[in-house]
Amino acid sequence: PSPTPNKDEKSLKELPKARFWEAMDIAQWEGYWFEPGLIKPAMTFKSTFNAQNDDVLLASTMKTGTTWLKSLSFCIMQNKTPTTNDDVLTTENPHFHVPTIESMIYSTKPPEIDPYNSSSPRLLHTHLPYAVLPDSIKTSGTKIVYIARNPKDTLISMWHFFNSILKPDLDPFPLEKAVDCFCNGVHQYGPFFEHVLEYWLESQKRPEKILFLKYEDLKRDPKGEVSKIGEFLGRPFGGEEEIEEILERCSLERLKNLEVNKNGSILMNVPNTSYFRKGVVGDWKNYLTVEMVERVNETSRVKLEPSGLFL
Ligand code: A3P
Repeated sequence: PSPTPNKDEKSLKELPKARFWEAMDIAQWEGYWFEPGLIKPAMTFKSTFNAQNDDVLLASTMKTGTTWLKSLSFCIMQNKTPTTNDDVLTTENPHFHVPTIESMIYSTKPPEIDPYNSSSPRLLHTHLPYAVLPDSIKTSGTKIVYIARNPKDTLISMWHFFNSILKPDLDPFPLEKAVDCFCNGVHQYGPFFEHVLEYWLESQKRPEKILFLKYEDLKRDPKGEVSKIGEFLGRPFGGEEEIEEILERCSLERLKNLEVNKNGSILMNVPNTSYFRKGVVGDWKNYLTVEMVERVNETSRVKLEPSGLFL
């Protein structure tokens, strides 16, 4: 007889399903859409993770500047200026140094936190929405740094990313359909707007717990924003030179051209090159029609602006 599925497996089967960009299945759990293989790891993380007071959790939905935030926070937490020989950003992609919990840690059994983070404090990342974070993260001293981005640039970044990894040899997915999925929230870790909103509202209530950053602010005033991250994480900078040096180490140009990021991949089917593209604000102007812009703007206006958040 076939083994009886356990409760989790049974409930996983019953989750609403959708097709993402005619290329892959996604399933809805707790109001958000995920690649089905990530839901069980996310459930295990939620019910078993034991946060420590000095843990640092980076959080973001997709394509909002995660790779940049990981690199910067990693350098800040290391608290030292490396010599050319021991700059570990040159030996591994930033996603190796700051693993994404649901796709890189809880996807293994038992979860392998230590090989990545043998040092204390632990520096981790998640794309999961605030509502499903483990209680121990919410109630402990764990600090959270969230990065958000303008929805139109996020959408265009996502469009390039999935076009390049899902069907690299085919025509790009029609942009009108991508806009539709984005505004309806039917995409990995979507809806975008609710994801951003949850962290935003929580950061307003508990600014000492959650630092809410915007990709555009980091581009506009990198020194000011990086200094803010340092202060928040209890690693204030000694002077401007230190900040400039971290910014240089984590610059898109530098990371993109490192051998380690031109080759290989840290996650299956996702080449390291796909994390680095243009990194500019307003690239959406090169792609979206007036109607598409109106659609995204209207969605954003309805969902975000009542809370005082303008992206
Ligand atoms: P674009 O596609 O607009 O170029 P994520 O890291 O969350 O997947 O987000 C990817 C976006 O961040 C991409 O945006 C990518 O180019 C940009 N990015 C990656 N590394 C960066 C860095 N070091 N500095 C600035 N932007 C970076």
